[in-house]
Amino acid sequence: MSTPSDPIKFAYWVPNVSGGLVISNIEQRTSWDIEYNRKLAQIAEASGFEYALTQIRFTAGYGADNQHESVAFSHALLAATTSLKVIAAILPGPWTPVLAAKQIATINHLSSGRIAVNIVSGWFRGEFQAIGEPWLDHDERYRRSEEFIRSLRGIWTEGSLTFAGDFYRFRDYSMKPKPIDPQPEIFQGGSSRAARDMAARVADWYFTNGNTPEEIRKQVDDIHAKASANNRSVKIGVNAFAIARETEDEAKAVLDEIIAKANPEAVQGFADQVKNAGKASPEGEGNWAKSSFADLVQYNDGFRSNLIGTPEQIAERIIALKNAGADLILLGFLHFQEEVESFGKHVIPLVRRLEAERQSELIAAE
Ligand SMILES: Cc1cc2nc3c(=O)[nH]c(=O)nc-3n(C[C@H](O)[C@H](O)[C@H](O)COP(=O)(O)O)c2cc1C
Repeated sequence: MSTPSDPIKFAYWVPNVSGGLVISNIEQRTSWDIEYNRKLAQIAEASGFEYALTQIRFTAGYGADNQHESVAFSHALLAATTSLKVIAAILPGPWTPVLAAKQIATINHLSSGRIAVNIVSGWFRGEFQAIGEPWLDHDERYRRSEEFIRSLRGIWTEGSLTFAGDFYRFRDYSMKPKPIDPQPEIFQGGSSRAARDMAARVADWYFTNGNTPEEIRKQVDDIHAKASANNRSVKIGVNAFAIARETEDEAKAVLDEIIAKANPEAVQGFADQVKNAGKASPEGEGNWAKSSFADLVQYNDGFRSNLIGTPEQIAERIIALKNAGADLILLGFLHFQEEVESFGKHVIPLVRRLEAERQSELIAAE
């Protein structure tokens, strides 16, 4: 958990799958190939972005017909950069913890400690069927992810690991070399009660879909309370799709165009599949449980965070999310290279100014 004096961090979605970050036929000057992505990573680290997040997909969903694998792709980005941290998505099922621990420890050495992981629990039943992976019930997926994370940490930190779980078992397993300190950070993506409980017990970071500051605050309060009951602290990352333009009308017109040009079959196909996520939890809450058609056009509810307007408006809304408990904003864009650079030039400095002003107010009030 950060304090108000900690600057909010910025991450961007690595476009390692085709089709961009919105399910729309609007022009997206973004490419999923490695050359585009290497340059993007270099632009991002020079523009004030601390993290990049690669996605894992094994088959097409929502029109993302081509997908590069996350761990290999993350390594290529680390090799092209010097300070950016890259978070590789890892899906329990296809990955075992022993394979993930070994791969990530090696990349940790190759990148001077800049690799992190995002443990994702799965929402896409058709994908699991296509690759021959058994499909578990919603909360069972999180029980498996929790064992996955406990195994990962155990392998990384303990001289010799013996672990007897329902999903994974180790006997006197000693992996060398261990990652160099600080240990790779462990994010988890998912927002249901099972996701929050798991994050509070074992994750370093909780990633959630886009939402209003009020809704984010509810999740934050829940996680912080649960984490402190476990003597832990968990940081919060919130997704957003940013459209910064000179005027608010221009920015809103871009959003309208994205939605008007949405691909209805692909959005509907995605809507059908995400019913296996939050809605399938015992509480019927979590990611996409309340998403409208327009929300689903950005596949992690990024419009809901409302970073759509002038740089000043966006900076103020980022501060509102920070005040609600966000430690990091994860960003998607229409034209990644151009907009990451412009966000670094026009929005991040305003955020830093607002943070400094708030800090002075706090000091003056003491
Ligand atoms: C920021 C973020 C990134 C995610 N990345 C991936 C991913 O790369 N691959 C994947 O299969 N699922 C990904 N997910 C989906 C989650 O792992 C999870 O299945 C989904 O959010 C539903 O969770 P819930 O039912 O707990 O709300 C991501 C979720 C979030 C919030």
